[in-house]
Amino acid sequence: MSSPQTQRIPLQRPSLGDEELAAVKAVFDSRWLGLGPVVKEFEDRVRDLVGAKHVVAVNTGTSAIHIALEALGVGPGDEVLAPSLTFVATIQAILQAGATPVFCDVEADTLNLDVEDARKRITPRTRAIIPVHYGGLACDLDALTALCRERGLHLVEDAAHAFGSKYKGRHIGSFGSATCFSFDPIKNITCGEGGAVCTEDDDVAERLRTKIILGIEKETWRRFKEQRGWFYEVTTPGYRYHMSNISAAIGLCQLKKLDAFMDKKRRYVRMYDQALGGLPGVTLLRRNYEETAPFFYVIRTKDRDVFTDAMQAHGIDVGVHYIPNHLQPLFAKQATPLPVTDVVWKEIVTLPLYYDMTDEIFEAVVARVKAILGR
Ligand SMILES: Cc1ncc(COP(=O)(O)O)c(C=O)c1O
Repeated sequence: MSSPQTQRIPLQRPSLGDEELAAVKAVFDSRWLGLGPVVKEFEDRVRDLVGAKHVVAVNTGTSAIHIALEALGVGPGDEVLAPSLTFVATIQAILQAGATPVFCDVEADTLNLDVEDARKRITPRTRAIIPVHYGGLACDLDALTALCRERGLHLVEDAAHAFGSKYKGRHIGSFGSATCFSFDPIKNITCGEGGAVCTEDDDVAERLRTKIILGIEKETWRRFKEQRGWFYEVTTPGYRYHMSNISAAIGLCQLKKLDAFMDKKRRYVRMYDQALGGLPGVTLLRRNYEETAPFFYVIRTKDRDVFTDAMQAHGIDVGVHYIPNHLQPLFAKQATPLPVTDVVWKEIVTLPLYYDMTDEIFEAVVARVKAILGR
C-alpha cells in the first residue's frame, strides 16, 4: 500500500494575498472599522457585477436568507419550500424567520431543486420557495419563476454557492424577489465572513437596510444628523447584521480576482470530469462549464463511506455536501420520504477544489481516486 501524502491536501481554502492585507490595514488606519464607506463601495461593485437594482451587504449568508424572508413578509404560520439537500444554514434561516421549512427533493443529475416535486408540496400556507444553486449550477429559474408567479409565491434564491454564475446569459442576483449570497471563507469570493441580498424591489431594499441595523430608520437619522447627531428612530424589529468595513475591504480585493479565480476552478472541473468520467463506479453530475462559477466538485460513487475513509487515510480531505436536513434529529417530526435525496446523498462525495490548487495536487487526487476505485 502506498503511503499517505506528506502534506494534507485540503478540500477547500480561500486564496488571500498581500492585496487583502493592505486593504485591511488601510481600514485599520482609518479607524472606521464598522459599517461605512467601504461597505457601500463593496455593495456598488457587487451591484455592477451582477446587475441587480439593490445590493445590501450583511455579515453572513445565513443572515441574508433570514432577513430576505422577513423583508418579504414571510413569518410565523408560513411554509417555505427548500431542498433537504442543502447546508443547514438555509433551513435555520427559515426557522429564524419563524416560518416552517418544507423539505423538497432534488434532481439526481444536478442536485438542484426538483421543481415538480416542489409544486406538489405547495399548500395554502406556502409563501416562498428557496432553491439552492448547488455547487454554483443555476437552478431552472424559468420554471421556478413561472411557478412562483402562478401560485403567488416569493422566490428567494440561496445563491451561497453561485456568486459569479449565470443563467441563460444573465448573472445570478438579477432575477427576482431576493437573491442571497455568502462570502464566508471558502465561498467563490470571501469577505472573511459576509453575505449580501440582491433585490429589484425598492421597498424590500429599504426594509432590508433598516433591519440590518437594529431597526434604526436611516432616513430620519439622516434628516436630523446635521442638527442632532444623536437622534435616531426605531421603526421595526431588526438585527445587527450589517457588514463591516474590514470585511468589505477584503471582499473588494477578491472581486477584482473573480475572473481569474473562476478560470482556475473551471479548468480543474473540466479536468476532473475528463479524468474521472467513465471510471467504473463513478457518476458525474451534469455541468454547465460556461455559465457556472464552480463552488465545489462533487461526484457520486457507491461505497461512498469506504471511499471517503480511504481518501482521508491518504491525506486527502474530502467532504459530503450535505447530510440531508430531513434526516437531522431536529427535523425528525417532519421526516418525509424524498426518493432521490434518500439514495443520492449516500453516494455524493466532494473532492478538493480551490484556487491555489496546482496541477501536481490535482494529479495526486486523481491518482488516489483511481487507485481506490480500481481496487
Ligand atoms: C447552501 C448554503 N446556504 C447558506 C449558507 C450560509 O452562508 P454563511 O456561511 O455565510 O452563513 C451556506 C454556507 O456554507 C451554504 O452552503
